[in-house]
Amino acid sequence: MSKDYKRTLITTALPYTNGPVHIGHLAGVYVPADIYARYLRLCGRPVTLIGGSDEHGVPITLKARKEGVTPQDIVDRYHALIKKSFEDLGISFDIYSRTTSAIHHDTASEFFRRLYDKGEFIEKTSEQLYDPEAGQFLADRYVTGECPHCHHPAAYGDQCEACGTSLAATDLINPKSTITGAVPELRQTRHWYLPLDKWEPALREWILEGHKEWKTNVYGQCKSWLDLGLQPRAVSRDLSWGVPVPVEGAEGKVLYVWFDAPIGYISNTKELYPDSWETWWKDPETRIINFIGKDNIVFHCIVFPAMLMAYGDNFQLPDNVPANEFLNLEGDKISTSRNWAVWLHEYLADFPGKQDVLRYVLTANAPETKDNDFTWRDFQARNNNELVAILGNFVNRVVVLTHKYYDGVVPAAGEYEAIDREAFAEMAQLRTSLTDNLETFHFREALKDAMSFARLGNKYLQDAEPWKVIKTDPERVKTIINVCAQICASIAVAMEPFMPFMSKKLAAILGNLTLDWNILGSDSVIAAGTVLGQPELLFEKIDDAAIQAQTDRLEAIKKQNALAAFKPEEVAPEVKIDDFAKLDIRVGTVLECTAVPKAKKLLQFVIDDGTPAHRTIVSGIAEHYSPEELVGRQVLFIANLAPAKIRGVLSQGMILSALNADGRLIVAAPSAPCSPGAQVK
Ligand code: MF3
Ligand code: ZN
Repeated sequence: MSKDYKRTLITTALPYTNGPVHIGHLAGVYVPADIYARYLRLCGRPVTLIGGSDEHGVPITLKARKEGVTPQDIVDRYHALIKKSFEDLGISFDIYSRTTSAIHHDTASEFFRRLYDKGEFIEKTSEQLYDPEAGQFLADRYVTGECPHCHHPAAYGDQCEACGTSLAATDLINPKSTITGAVPELRQTRHWYLPLDKWEPALREWILEGHKEWKTNVYGQCKSWLDLGLQPRAVSRDLSWGVPVPVEGAEGKVLYVWFDAPIGYISNTKELYPDSWETWWKDPETRIINFIGKDNIVFHCIVFPAMLMAYGDNFQLPDNVPANEFLNLEGDKISTSRNWAVWLHEYLADFPGKQDVLRYVLTANAPETKDNDFTWRDFQARNNNELVAILGNFVNRVVVLTHKYYDGVVPAAGEYEAIDREAFAEMAQLRTSLTDNLETFHFREALKDAMSFARLGNKYLQDAEPWKVIKTDPERVKTIINVCAQICASIAVAMEPFMPFMSKKLAAILGNLTLDWNILGSDSVIAAGTVLGQPELLFEKIDDAAIQAQTDRLEAIKKQNALAAFKPEEVAPEVKIDDFAKLDIRVGTVLECTAVPKAKKLLQFVIDDGTPAHRTIVSGIAEHYSPEELVGRQVLFIANLAPAKIRGVLSQGMILSALNADGRLIVAAPSAPCSPGAQVK
């Protein structure tokens, strides 16, 4: 930190309320923001953590249209669900409000109006995409088409998700309405534009000169934006859902969602602190930090700051914008529309009491510098091998030993020996490293440091061997147990930002320990004489069945998606009827069917083909059928295919199957019983 700040305002990207929150949102934004807020609170530094729902914008109206309900229904449903699940995960928002609130509508209107009155907008009539079938203009997600930059075929009217470029709907190649599928026409409409170009020099100076400490992904994106040159950006839309443009003659127009949403941070602060909110936004001694995902960088680093500069009145710009990359799920991009996600509310229902495990795994795997992958196997391994085996185990041993030797009362330490002094020296180093990592938003590394307190504890206990020393030098054991209790207490403090539920439980076991970052790692975190509670398991093993249930669910979704996305192959080049006639396709009845040894794809058939000799055919469908289920069934086969030896068996023909969208082979058969040997014509 370059400067001593009096307070920190932490904002978290306001999620769109068109669906529940998933692990990608959590890993990218909410868990890191919560870690940071909790850390500052433990230090005794004033902090406010702002959250809320982004309830305007096209994703919401599209969802409402799809379900045949009103946008208000959609936002009410998901706002309640998201708010509750954040609470249950322990995200410690000081306020979680919404952009449909009256205070937000007023704040956003006033903001627009002031810019309008100051002459900060350009008013322009231009041609915009219009869907004649739906009778409305198409902006943002109402239109898709080819990205003019990377040529991704399904970019949206506001952004290409493939290359991250922010677009205007009219930039798209071959645009198509997402409402009706119609090809849009151009119609004239009037809008207000914020001339970003006017703010370019100030933005350059502020970011490129003033904030070289920003994460390279954030700084780099800003630099390439600025180097491309900024253009005026429309801040209004022809839509009915949103904050109405507060200007006469602007009926049917609302503020662009990316104009109103970031103002939501201000509205929510106002709602929280009606009297003192301005201190949190306008005092240069407030430090503002925006936690966001990488797709939000341009809006938080360029557009919103330009809005704040245009507004003036001392509004402070963010001091840092620690944006994360994306989290994938089992190797695939998380997607709300493809239902490819782990939904927070479902996780909470499936793994009750295991909020900290998810927080831990998402932090250990956080996509801080590159996209990262969440897998259920890794989730299980981290729980069982790290939380249970390292952290839980250490604490449990210490509490059990304290009860065994001292009736649960933490003994006073005597003279320290080298091993004790080394443990405290190491803890002091860990504390420094942990603090540095938290201050610089390196939460993965910070979590490793916090976990190292437990690793250190296990090693200390192993080396000090109180269970042996108790027989020869019981006085010395008092010191050992005291040191162990100090380490446990430091774990409770160091882990609080990451795993607040565990920490609370541990603090209770440690005689209602007060958590204070300032004494972390010292030899007086817990007082001698403290009576410990009964040993309690902090973590429990997660078994294979629980993990299997999750991976099965994902497998099923993958299948559904493949079926939904199926596109038939291009038709093969034309043939003449004579070509077809060369193939002799016949009906046969399966007499016998057996697996071919050591060939997991092959089944061997004996087919009644109407001749006394019958015939043998080998077919590659063993992964799709068990031999028993085919016996007695009729199939179609090519009777005049040149015989071929397959795994030592002479195959006299080929059984016909259809390749289904989900990858399954389905045997072709006549629709009613046929005489064996009947020809397909
Ligand atoms: N709703 C946006 C998204 O999910 C984020 C809005 S952040 C705010 O991508 F700054 F506008 F609030
Ligand atoms: Zn693109």
